[in-house]
Amino acid sequence: MAEVFAGAIDKGLEGVVACTTGISSIVDAQLFYSGYLIEDLAENSTFEEVVYLLWNGRLPKANELEKFNNELNANMSLSAEKVELLQKLPTKNVHPMAWLRSAVSMMALWDDKSQSDEDADRHEVALRLTAKVGSLVALFERTRQAKEYVSPQAGKSFAWNFLHMLNGVEPDADSVKVFDTCLILHADHELNCSAFSARVTASSLSDLYSAVTSAIGTLKGPLHGGANEAVMRMLLEIKTVDNAKAWIKSALENKEKVMGFGHRVYKNGDPRAKVLRGMSKILCENAGTEYYEMSKAIDDTVQSEKGLLPNVDFYSASVYYSMGIPLDLYTPIFATSRVSGWIAHIFEQYSKNRIYRPRGEWTGESSLKYVPVADR
Ligand code: COA
Repeated sequence: MAEVFAGAIDKGLEGVVACTTGISSIVDAQLFYSGYLIEDLAENSTFEEVVYLLWNGRLPKANELEKFNNELNANMSLSAEKVELLQKLPTKNVHPMAWLRSAVSMMALWDDKSQSDEDADRHEVALRLTAKVGSLVALFERTRQAKEYVSPQAGKSFAWNFLHMLNGVEPDADSVKVFDTCLILHADHELNCSAFSARVTASSLSDLYSAVTSAIGTLKGPLHGGANEAVMRMLLEIKTVDNAKAWIKSALENKEKVMGFGHRVYKNGDPRAKVLRGMSKILCENAGTEYYEMSKAIDDTVQSEKGLLPNVDFYSASVYYSMGIPLDLYTPIFATSRVSGWIAHIFEQYSKNRIYRPRGEWTGESSLKYVPVADR
């Protein structure tokens, strides 16, 4: 006889509070990292400082920030041995998120601290992971273009180094600022799907690499991090501002989801989308493309037809496109930043752990009698 529950939840745990957290919060449609408003951080902070904030719950003093910047910077490089082996992994017809998921998992095999549960060792692993995900993304891109791996440079920011390692040319200050702001905006987001998945893995007291690998697999899906790439594919398919309204209306009539719209928590707009919209406008105008205008026309149509507002993935697509970043790297870039938030969640989970083990209400037949295979 199946156990009877008060009410099964087949609605993606909507409204369920699964843990307490001190990392980031969404309050009245505003996003805060450790109590600081996201718009304030986007304008004034750096990615490195935000990582420190997410991991420590407070902003660093000048000497602490300098030390942390240097630690992250020192951990960005990939050894010649790793580069040689990783360059042998397939990249043709391989989605970079699949490659990244495998590469991060492989990194554990070279890390003698990966299985340690000592705080100091875990901190070292956390730094390595956070610093190296972006380096892996850059290595993937250069490998598939048959180009050499570019090493990080000391004394340069994380954003500067990522763009340099990706493109092999020194980025200009404006591109570095835009990219750094994108990293800040994507670093954490309360109990999003991938952070939850990282926490579930950590709750079995598995290691940091396993939890981050789980999270990368979760971020990959088009309903989560994969939406930014899908948005750009949609913009390229729509082609012109004039086509936008009719294209969206037809998609909605066909009950298709318009990528980059809607959110489980924000029903009156995602604050990150507003920051990215401003950046998209400037970058598209500078590049002389119509993608901002097209995005705005789509935004207006989805709002008027369906009452849905853009999320973080909508305007980030045209921002990355304007920066010349290949479409299928948009989600790996999301991971490059979000790994910092996942790690904050993993540590928080370890610090007050109880294994996640919900129940499932049985809806099938019960008390069936086994029938030997020959009699079925
Ligand atoms: N385009 C069209 N309709 C959408 C939509 C979208 N992007 N997002 C939600 N809806 C519709 C749903 O079909 C549903 O309609 P219904 O009540 O007629 O069935 C209604 O709005 C409620 O949406 P629901 O799917 O229940 O929301 P959710 O909380 O389960 O899912 C998302 C949230 C983000 C997964 C969802 O909005 C979505 O799939 N968006 C597109 C993918 C995306 O941009 N993901 C990135 C998130 S940051």
